[in-house]
Amino acid sequence: MKSLARKTVVPIRGEITLPGDKSISHRSIMIGALAKGITTVHGFLRGEDNFATVNAFRAMGVEIRDEIGILKIHGKGLHSLLEPSDVIDCGNSGTSMRLLTGLLAGQPFFSVLTGDRYLRNRPMKRILDPVGAMGAEIHGRAGGNKAPLAIIGRDLQGISYQSPISSAQVKSSVVFAGLYASGETTVIEPHLSRDHTERMLCSFGADIETLPGGVRVRGGRELQGQEITIPGDISSAAFFIVATLIVPGSELLIKNVGVNPTRTGILDILSAMGATLQLLNYRELSGEPVADLLVRSAQLKGIEICGELVPRSIDEFPIICLAAALAEGKTVIRDAGELRVKETDRIRAMAVNLGKAGVSVTESADGMEIQGTDSLQGCRVDSFGDHRIAMSMLIAGLASGGGITVNDPDCIATSFPDFIELLEKVTKS
Ligand code: S3P
Repeated sequence: MKSLARKTVVPIRGEITLPGDKSISHRSIMIGALAKGITTVHGFLRGEDNFATVNAFRAMGVEIRDEIGILKIHGKGLHSLLEPSDVIDCGNSGTSMRLLTGLLAGQPFFSVLTGDRYLRNRPMKRILDPVGAMGAEIHGRAGGNKAPLAIIGRDLQGISYQSPISSAQVKSSVVFAGLYASGETTVIEPHLSRDHTERMLCSFGADIETLPGGVRVRGGRELQGQEITIPGDISSAAFFIVATLIVPGSELLIKNVGVNPTRTGILDILSAMGATLQLLNYRELSGEPVADLLVRSAQLKGIEICGELVPRSIDEFPIICLAAALAEGKTVIRDAGELRVKETDRIRAMAVNLGKAGVSVTESADGMEIQGTDSLQGCRVDSFGDHRIAMSMLIAGLASGGGITVNDPDCIATSFPDFIELLEKVTKS
């Protein structure tokens, strides 16, 4: 598809249920494949990124049955993966590539990981440094910083790693390597990143414990297959929350959303900006907290966003930028340099795109300042090949009289194939 356009609509109303959480979906395949016995997954996200992970494990001999709506992984234990006969293509998925790198480092075989042109340009040294210190042999372009990555399985030793960045991909990669290492592996990060790997490994019976700001794992213990139900993705909910907030007279109930505290930075940020968000029917599903979210439109105000809030809302910044663009006053984002190495440079992409919509944005090395305005100008923007930029700018179209057209929107399918359909459902009069 060449482009998609959205413009001002009637109020958003109704009730929606979102597709499963992307991060948890990846982990359900990885951990299910390493466990003994069948792992049944309900609510798996049927996005391109997650199928990259499914295909990787199929290529290593794991039987994964897709019974539409339910995935069944026939795991044969920690030491049952087979050498893939071809290069594994992770597509656009950083989670697939980085977590697999740690996991493959301790396998008794050779493997090669590649991805699309965006993923091949993202930094991998953050994984190679700690996993290399555990004894891994991994080669890549640009001195080992870029894929394709060639991984030669080695005996690994546990390490105590103080990560310079708060990244669940780094933490999880080292934890997966730790499952195959001798002794104990500890990862501590500046601020706690999403902890889905720790939670799921724990429920599969791994020898793992959480620490203040980190995790410790001991290798060797077999995992047992489980039945998992994946909650709706709060990162997908974020687009609908902000859409509801910015279209006057709107009210939306978003059912069954994962509200793990390592992911709810978006709720804290929007509440601080003046949103009233109600969490209803709070409960636990397969070791993850879940709730229904009731959202009503509100006039937002600018705030400062920094520190521990950043890793807790890292994927939501494109849509947070839009909320800031329509808030009263100035929003300042700091400590968010990681945004420059996501699927695209999200600071640059949102500065360029909101600039075209008439918003005054100033970039800094690790963030931006956004001056709020009343409405957006109609314009045509790029997705930069990034699903979250594309979706954020389509939501931006709802606040623009002239409408916003997004070029190259196909990337939305990496994380949210039903996005347009759901948006149409809630914006129909
Ligand atoms: C993810 C972690 C985050 C996030 C990504 C998914 C994960 O990356 O941006 O979309 O599933 O572990 P970092 O941990 O590198 O910030």
